[in-house]
Amino acid sequence: MGQGYPDFLGSEVARRAAAEALKEAALNQYSAPRGLPQLREAVASWHSRRYGSKQTAEDVVVTAGGQEALVCAIRAGIEASGRSGGVVVMEPFYPFLGGVVVMEPFYPFLGGAVSRAGGIAMPMRLEAPEFRIRGVELLDIPENAFVVADEVYEGTAKHRRVASVVDPQRVITVGSAGKLLSLTGWRVGWIVASNRELADRAAAAHLDLTYAAPTPLQAGVARALDEDDLGGVGALFKQNYEKLEAALPSSLKARGGPRGYFLVAEIIDGTDDLTFVERLAESTGVVAAPLRVFYADPPPTNLVRFTNQHTTSTPRVGAS
Ligand SMILES: Cc1ncc(COP(=O)(O)O)c(C=O)c1O
Repeated sequence: MGQGYPDFLGSEVARRAAAEALKEAALNQYSAPRGLPQLREAVASWHSRRYGSKQTAEDVVVTAGGQEALVCAIRAGIEASGRSGGVVVMEPFYPFLGGVVVMEPFYPFLGGAVSRAGGIAMPMRLEAPEFRIRGVELLDIPENAFVVADEVYEGTAKHRRVASVVDPQRVITVGSAGKLLSLTGWRVGWIVASNRELADRAAAAHLDLTYAAPTPLQAGVARALDEDDLGGVGALFKQNYEKLEAALPSSLKARGGPRGYFLVAEIIDGTDDLTFVERLAESTGVVAAPLRVFYADPPPTNLVRFTNQHTTSTPRVGAS
């Protein structure tokens, strides 16, 4: 339960539409590099329906998963700032992003992508237990910085976009069909850029990296977004959270509430996170993620994370 992936079938609408797409010759070949037109339209329309955003399909670039979208967004932001600006990254962050931006030795092949491209990484810490964005800090971002807003977990809880608290012109939003539709193996993600110039820069990065995302799967994702089929995960994850919270050992206290894909818990008996997760794995077979992997230095050492996306293994946590 350390890694965030579902153990159930994801969006049925998406899976059916992708199966149909497999029967069409054109949908088994490269898509346009920026993505299938219907998916770019569907993403723009989803953002407009859900958040009232004004971006159009022109501002959307489809990528091979949210991870690639992060790299393209960072590159676009640095280039747009004239290679002298910064990229604001919120902590806790996706560990891959830490590898790219902060912890260079982790990923030598990507390491220091920001500094090598001439930019500066600016981690901005969101504090436990609420992990809330404090608007004032964000509003203070320097003139030539861009915010890479990793919003792949927009799907379940009430979501407030970063672009709603800062100048939207400075935000590059990243999304993932893997997370939104519970189809992590499909590797379909996207960027919603704040303007056409940023979208062009992100598209150029995407051309270099993967060229195009899997075409039939893009068709499936487009249909599911058009039909708002997220597979009812909001209710399911909340239910899993409640089961998980009830099963926690007395050494853990849930923090932050049932707001999404994960339960974050504080270790209240003084054990450090690494020792705790090792012992839990040994005694129950359940793996939790120490929250330190989502931070630059110095990380918190008293927090662990479980996914709410596993419906079958949750009860085993209680065996500890
Ligand atoms: C916060 C965050 N951002 C981005 C990603 C990458 O998304 P994808 O699986 O679509 O590449 C993940 C994956 O776990 C994630 O947790």
